[in-house]
Amino acid sequence: MTKLIFLLVTQIVFLVAPLVSTGDGGDFARTMNQKHLGLKKEKLTHLRFYWQDSLKGRNPSSVMIQQPVSNTSLFGSITMMDDALTLDVSRNSTVMGQAQGIYAGAAQGQLSFLMLMNFAFKTGKYNGSTIAVLGRNTVLSKVREMPVVGGSGVFRFARGYVQARTMSFDFKSGDATVEYNCYVLHY
Ligand SMILES: *[C@@H]1O[C@H](CO)[C@@H](O)[C@H](O)[C@H]1NC(C)=O
Ligand SMILES: *[C@@H]1O[C@H](CO)[C@@H](O)[C@H](O)[C@H]1NC(C)=O
Ligand SMILES: *[C@@H]1O[C@H](CO)[C@@H](O)[C@H](O)[C@H]1NC(C)=O
Repeated sequence: MTKLIFLLVTQIVFLVAPLVSTGDGGDFARTMNQKHLGLKKEKLTHLRFYWQDSLKGRNPSSVMIQQPVSNTSLFGSITMMDDALTLDVSRNSTVMGQAQGIYAGAAQGQLSFLMLMNFAFKTGKYNGSTIAVLGRNTVLSKVREMPVVGGSGVFRFARGYVQARTMSFDFKSGDATVEYNCYVLHY
């Protein structure tokens, strides 16, 4: 009888133990209820703004920190940017954020950049929130699509894509204005 009870108790301990501890002595991860982070219904937001890049001129917003190995494809070049994002095509229109990051010549024999940037918003309810973009930008194509890989603040858990369309490009000054349409799923 006592042996039976002993067996029962050990069985129960074995059954319950995995629920109490991971057995590795590591309690660094746990399953959470989404409601604790206020995650209810995912929504889709469309944002449109204009990316204003200026390599030269009086007030450049980007700087080439690594020269290319080819001047035609710009392969191997790395440019750091802190570009204004404006509400309208005009460079003088309201600035609603900054595009901060890097674009790097990533293709040989073709003009194509690796884009690595955060859109840092600074107006209204988006103030302080960011959207992270990582993608391939074949700048001579009419429309370039790049993935939204994440975000912060209002855009926590963001995923989606952007479409970039060049509005103007001045070969002499290197100034470019690009329309960005951002489609983002977030909570
Ligand atoms: C690219 O052009 C610059 C300026 O004209 C020149 O100094 C440099 O040597 C060129 N680089 C290559 C790889 O041709
Ligand atoms: C922007 O403002 C500057 C200085 O006020 C002016 O010289 C320039 O023509 C304006 N550009 C546009 C596109 O309106
Ligand atoms: C955005 O947030 C910063 C930091 O909290 C604050 O200083 C700034 O005034 C805010 N801007 C707007 C337009 O709300």
